[in-house]
This record gives sequence, C-alpha cells and structure tokens, in this order.
Amino acid sequence: MATASSPNSLLLKNPNRSLLRNPNHPIVPTTTHLTTVKLPTKPLSIKCAATTQTQDHLPLTQTPAQARVFNFAAGPATLPENVLLKAQSELYNWRGSGMSVMEMSHRGKEFLSIIQKAESDLRALLNIPSEYAVLFLQGGATTQFAAIPLNLVKLEDPVDYVVTGSWGDKAFKEAQKYCKAKVIWSGKSEKYTRIPSFEGLEQSPDAKYMHICANETIHGVEFKDYPTAKNGLLIADMSSNFCSKPVDVSKFGIIYAGAQKNVGPSGVTIVIIRKDLIGNAQEITPVMLDYKIHAENNSLYNTPPCYGIYMCGLVFEDLLAQGGLEEVEKKNKKKAELLYNAINGSNGFYRCPVEKSVRSLMNVPFTLEKPELEAEFVKEAAREKMVQLKGHRSVGGMRASIYNAMPLAGVEKLVAFMEDFQARHA
Ligand SMILES: Cc1ncc(COP(=O)(O)O)c(C=O)c1O
Repeated sequence: MATASSPNSLLLKNPNRSLLRNPNHPIVPTTTHLTTVKLPTKPLSIKCAATTQTQDHLPLTQTPAQARVFNFAAGPATLPENVLLKAQSELYNWRGSGMSVMEMSHRGKEFLSIIQKAESDLRALLNIPSEYAVLFLQGGATTQFAAIPLNLVKLEDPVDYVVTGSWGDKAFKEAQKYCKAKVIWSGKSEKYTRIPSFEGLEQSPDAKYMHICANETIHGVEFKDYPTAKNGLLIADMSSNFCSKPVDVSKFGIIYAGAQKNVGPSGVTIVIIRKDLIGNAQEITPVMLDYKIHAENNSLYNTPPCYGIYMCGLVFEDLLAQGGLEEVEKKNKKKAELLYNAINGSNGFYRCPVEKSVRSLMNVPFTLEKPELEAEFVKEAAREKMVQLKGHRSVGGMRASIYNAMPLAGVEKLVAFMEDFQARHA
C-alpha cells in the first residue's frame, strides 16, 4: 500500500533498525573509536557507489552503527554486523596471541586452528560427506571456470553447459579453451528469465560433466532443484547462493563459490569436490589450479588468503549459531517474499522479468514502468541510506541483493520506500 510520507521520514519509521544495530552489543570493545561521533553541522557530502549526494538530514550525532547503510550490493556485499564487530574486537590482538590474524604465519598453530575450524563448521553447515574435500583457494570463481575442465577432463572430452545467465556463459566460454564444451541449453534469447525443464535437456551422450550456475547473480534466476547429469557428474557455481539454504552436496561432483556474496570478503574461493575426482589434471595445468596440490596441502600449498578465511570462519560460526541453513533459508524466503510481493502488488509500476517459479532468493532484479525514473529511484534510496540498488550495467534497471546478512529491517525499509516512491511518482 502506498504511503504519503516524505522520503526522509522513512528513517524514523524503522524501529527495528535501532534494535538490530545496537551500539551496546556485548562484543563491541570499549575503545574510544566506538564512542559517539560528532558530525559537522554543515551538510556533509558523502560519496557512495550509487550516487554522490548531500546528506543534510542526518542527526548531528550518531554512533558508528547508526552510520551504516543498508547495502544491497551484489558482491562484495554486506556482512553480518555481529561478525564485523567480532572481527573488530579481535583485529589488533587475536585471542591473546599478541598479533592480528593478518600478521600470523599461515603455518603457525593459531592460523591452523582458524582454517581447521572454518572447514569443520562449513562441513557441519552443509552436511558435507567425508568423501568430499573442502578447499579454500584464491582467484575468484572466474579462475574455477578454467580449473574445472583442466582438472576433470582432457582436451578432446565433451562436456555440457546449461546457460541460464551471464555467469554460466562466461564459464562455458572459458571451458571451451580446455575441452569440447557445448551449450545444451541457453536462455539468452529470452533474456535469461527462466530455467529449462530438466526432462527436455538434450545432454550429450558422452559428456563428462554438466555445468550449471545455481544462481545467476545478474539476472536473478535460481535453480530450485537440480538436474541429474547422465554420467552423474553435476558441477555448480554457487557463488551467489552459497550457504543460503541447505544443499544435498552428494548430488554434485564439484560445488564452487566466491566468498564475497554470502560468506566473507573477496579473495577466498571455496571448492567442495568429490575426492575421487582429484588427481587427473591435464599436464598443462598450472600448479595453482591443480586440486591435487591444494588437497594434499590442506589449502596451504602457498600463502592462502588468511584474513579472508578467518572472516569466512566467523560467518560460518554465525550461521550455525542462527540454527543452521534451514533457519537461514526461512529468513531468506521471508525477505524475498516481502520484496517480490511488493513488486507484484505495484500494478506494474515495478516489474520483475524473471519467471515466478525460479526467482532468486538472493538477487532481485526489477525495472520501473517509467525507466526515466530509475536514476531518481536510486538517488532517493541512497539518500535514505539504501545503496547499490542500480542493476548490473549489462541489463539496467534495479537489483536488490538480499543475501543472508541483509537484515529483514533492510528489506522492510526498501519496501516502504518503494511504496512511498510509487505514491509520489505513479
Ligand atoms: C554466479 C557468479 N559466478 C562467478 C562470479 C565471478 O566471481 P569472481 O569475481 O569471484 O571471479 C560471480 C561474480 O559476481 C558470480 O556472481
């Protein structure tokens, strides 16, 4: 329902925010940099990625927690506030070690305890069977586009790609260099708005694996179930829905994900691989892309992204403390439902192009009936401290990424803003 309030009043209408962003959080260290910050009385010009604007509506004093925005970026993305605060409290002196995690030897007992705990918590979260190895790597998911064919197949081997968006397409293009990759289904002509029926997939009879992108971050298309590969080897890029819901790992040969959307900062790439698939890399495979090297060395062949792994570990702990991925999925469904209902109920003022049954719980793309208002929408939202709502440059429109760490209050505030914006511009 539309409200007639001014955009600025939305800040006041958000009672949950003060609860969620409690400056007296027990793990906030009592250091001077967490005391109230006095802002200048003159309007303060702040730059955020979405737009540059004058913020003349902020209160004169605010805590650092109140100064945080709701960040709808697709990645790097918002992180859980309690994780950031815990990292802050441990930044200078990790648990009495006398040093920061950033300063530790990756072979010392302190860091070994961090990486081992991160792995065991991830195993608990996803219920990863013991026949699977967990690798913490670098190079982003993009590096895996090459590492997967290099490790699993030979130059002359056929493999299948189901392309439901730009990331699947990129993975296919990279694989073509290292094997006989074939697109067996593409949603490109329909602007990547749906997932094909699994029965209709014409899998190559001798394909060594089938690759999917479980959640297309740009187009907002998410697999709700998974096809079975003819030879049993399904490979999934789960970068943008990793740990957002329970997954039956045993259905996959490899699951891979860049951390920077749901589980940590950029710089860490997680690969979950069935152990029997390790050890067959093509001869030209660079050492850093060879899963065998990393598995044999427990992800410590060279210097790993230590701080990023530590942050992922804190996020895993937090997800477990929330009750695990069943609970996390419930929260994600609630947030996504709220946002999609607002779009559906707007009488066409907002539109989501994606087929309803496969709309992503993580990335919600939408357009405005009047595209000329899109820049104004992004600008006004940023003024209300909701940033990074501009759609990907390749598709335009808007996109709200509502990963695990986006609080319900952030989505509620966005929906209230959308209704208000519609009331003023319809
Ligand atoms: C689904 C998906 N796959 C792959 C990538 C590429 O990840 P990276 O930048 O970590 O290489 C992204 C990045 O946004 C993504 O969303």
